[in-house]
Amino acid sequence: MCKMAAVMESGEDAFKQLFKFYKRRKPPPDFSEVVDFSGNLCADKVVPMKLNATAVPDAVTSRVGLRPVRDWRAFGLQGYPGFIFISNPFRRGSQRYWIRQCLKTYPQKPNICNLDMHMSPCDTQNIWERSVHSLRAPSPPRRQEKSLLERLRWVTLGYHYNWDTKVYSADHYTPFPVDLQSLSQQIASGCGFSDFKPQAGILNYYRTDSSLGIHVDESELDHNCPLLSFCFGQSSIFLLGGKRRQDPPTAMFMHSGDVMVMSGQSRLLYHAVPRIVPAPQELLTTELLTHPTPTEGQNPPETGSVLEPVSEQDWTVCLRYIQSSRINMTVRQVLGAGQSFPQS
Ligand code: SIN
Repeated sequence: MCKMAAVMESGEDAFKQLFKFYKRRKPPPDFSEVVDFSGNLCADKVVPMKLNATAVPDAVTSRVGLRPVRDWRAFGLQGYPGFIFISNPFRRGSQRYWIRQCLKTYPQKPNICNLDMHMSPCDTQNIWERSVHSLRAPSPPRRQEKSLLERLRWVTLGYHYNWDTKVYSADHYTPFPVDLQSLSQQIASGCGFSDFKPQAGILNYYRTDSSLGIHVDESELDHNCPLLSFCFGQSSIFLLGGKRRQDPPTAMFMHSGDVMVMSGQSRLLYHAVPRIVPAPQELLTTELLTHPTPTEGQNPPETGSVLEPVSEQDWTVCLRYIQSSRINMTVRQVLGAGQSFPQS
């Protein structure tokens, strides 16, 4: 009997068992059944997907740092209709801009973050500025207090998700970032959802020992709209289950730059992140550590580009951060066309 089958035998639901299996530290789990879209693909599980290459003009994808749609490596998974995995569609070097936004720009007011729950607005005003000193230091002293950036766990954008009530509301809204709106619309259009309206974002910041529990994203009022997920920095194991906790999930690696779209019948499936795993060195080296050439995204590649150059100073801080962290952004449409929030 394989290790995973043995794990399934206890009374816990199948999702919980596999979550615990991949979260386990000692002994570390066997990763041989984890789907890796960047490597050799298991033909009975992974289905290469052809996207509409003309859905977004190349000049437009380039403005947000994406390759032309015809070059996106997109896949479906057997048994998960509506699930689309795009293996790093970013131009080389352009992830830098998005990582910098996640660390320097999006945590700023008026967006909301976990630190606001127990600190005054003036103390959470300049998270980046108040953290860069310790993150720029060549090797931080061991017992140094963690910087605000290292204590960041989540940021919400647009319609701010309320973690206690699990609802969005009309009066808890600040403008959704224009650059992320553009990136999300292009990913959605490339996958056939040209009407997608990014209205809410949740950014999760993971340290190497973090995990994200089993859940379904169902707070949005319209579940016909897809949910997009972007990953940067260290890799993770992502578990995609079924509509019931008893359905055994499929494990897959998410690496820096990977994008997932959950739509249709896969929009309301259980999912979780049991473990952060070190990014493959060659992936980090080519995508993030090597200095990109001007044509590869560090300089604005097209007129109208949203990508501002990332200074070496800023990049040093980002690099230090992502060497031991992962960032995930999920982007959601909360309201369907013409829909409004129910009167409370
Ligand atoms: C989420 O499900 O909200 C985030 C998943 C991830 O971090 O990959």
